[in-house]
Amino acid sequence: MKITMIGTGYVGLTSGVCYSEMGHTVICADIDEDKIDQLKSNECPIYEPGLKELIIKNSSRGNLSFTTDIDEAVKLADIVMIAVGTPSLPDGGVDMFYVEEVARKIGKSINNYKIIVNKSTVPVGSADKVRHIIQSCTNIPFDVASVPEFLREGSAVNDILNGERIVIGVDSEKAKDILINTHAPFNIPIQVTDIRSAELIKYAANSFLAMKISFINEIANLAEKVGADVLEVAKGIGSDSRIGNKFLNAGIGFGGACFPKDTLGLISIAEQVGHDFAIMKEVVKVNSKQYLKVIEKLQSVYPKLNGKTVSILGLSFKPNTNDLREAPSIKIIEELVKITNGNINIRVFDPISMEEARGQLPNSIEYCYSVENAVTESDAAIIVTEWKDIVEENWVELAKCMNSPIIIDGRNSLNLIDNDNITYLGIGRKERALRLVNPL
Ligand code: UGA
Repeated sequence: MKITMIGTGYVGLTSGVCYSEMGHTVICADIDEDKIDQLKSNECPIYEPGLKELIIKNSSRGNLSFTTDIDEAVKLADIVMIAVGTPSLPDGGVDMFYVEEVARKIGKSINNYKIIVNKSTVPVGSADKVRHIIQSCTNIPFDVASVPEFLREGSAVNDILNGERIVIGVDSEKAKDILINTHAPFNIPIQVTDIRSAELIKYAANSFLAMKISFINEIANLAEKVGADVLEVAKGIGSDSRIGNKFLNAGIGFGGACFPKDTLGLISIAEQVGHDFAIMKEVVKVNSKQYLKVIEKLQSVYPKLNGKTVSILGLSFKPNTNDLREAPSIKIIEELVKITNGNINIRVFDPISMEEARGQLPNSIEYCYSVENAVTESDAAIIVTEWKDIVEENWVELAKCMNSPIIIDGRNSLNLIDNDNITYLGIGRKERALRLVNPL
């Protein structure tokens, strides 16, 4: 199949590259000339394990190319996939501007029958909107479909190539047959459904996972008050296969480009049809406060933070990505600066996202070249992102370099036993002095 992917963000680029890996001829198109130039010279604009290798491999065997000429790319395709951004509007609704813009371009360029697939996370009814826009520009026949993407940043290539399901939302037999054949090489179970169900599946999946996280975070907050340990509770409930043990890691809440946006998106979709999605509102509310937990813990040790030196370990919203969107690190740092009127020394370390962070963090932040460099002579260390480089450090030795061996673990990422020399404060753990042995 000849596939044109419009939009080379996380979803568009990674899935486009993976379709080419499956043997399809893929053109990735974007209006961002710098990005396309980078990709043409085999450079990968995002940090995503395994992606660059696949770009090089498939570009060199001739089934992956990059262009800014969207008109030409549409004309050459059997299937045009829309994978442009759908940011949140100020009221939590979904901004469809870019999707609609692309639909107009497709309508102007379409030259023969094509399937137009929505890959972007778009509200229920968006396929109809896209259909309507294209129909208003042309008489050429086409079908629309929804094939949502379930990749996670940091493991995107693996998630696409070894996913648990492919959802295909269609309303024509022709599009159904073509899209089933297009996805057959992935060898992943395919669920064919109507378009609106496919669109809702995407929001429901992300919102359910976000709900699991806010639930376990509330259990953690409760565990602290009743003297229980959230890790034990998560293990105890997660071994029930009806609950499942994934996405039960308590911490400082979910961030990134998807969960915060999609939970608000689902609330807004519901509101538009007069439905009050009360559970999701609570999920968002719990998450909006969870990052403050590490600051409360810091203040339980130092009621006055003014003049203290605090190291922040990890900046990206999760490990294995340089993405800082909705990252708890930024909110934590901003809050620390605010409550001390800037009278605090913040030292940060992240293996790959420090350059991105420079533009977003206050000027007073000190950027460090290693975990050891960041924690040396600090009054407390806060683990914000559970990068391997951070959790696999020898924390017993690191603690000796600190002014005070106070470790606040916002991700419950260190494996510990009792020790009187180090104060270790996790999220939803019993507060006690702990000694660090083999990290996870
Ligand atoms: C998420 C979904 O997991 C993907 O299936 C989906 O395709 C993607 O959104 C999307 O819509 O594009 P992603 O945001 O990349 O993927 O990352 P996750 O691994 O899901 O993590 C999201 C956030 O939840 C992170 O901040 C992470 O630290 C947090 N999290 C995750 C927890 O706090 N606890 C957990 O147990 C798991």
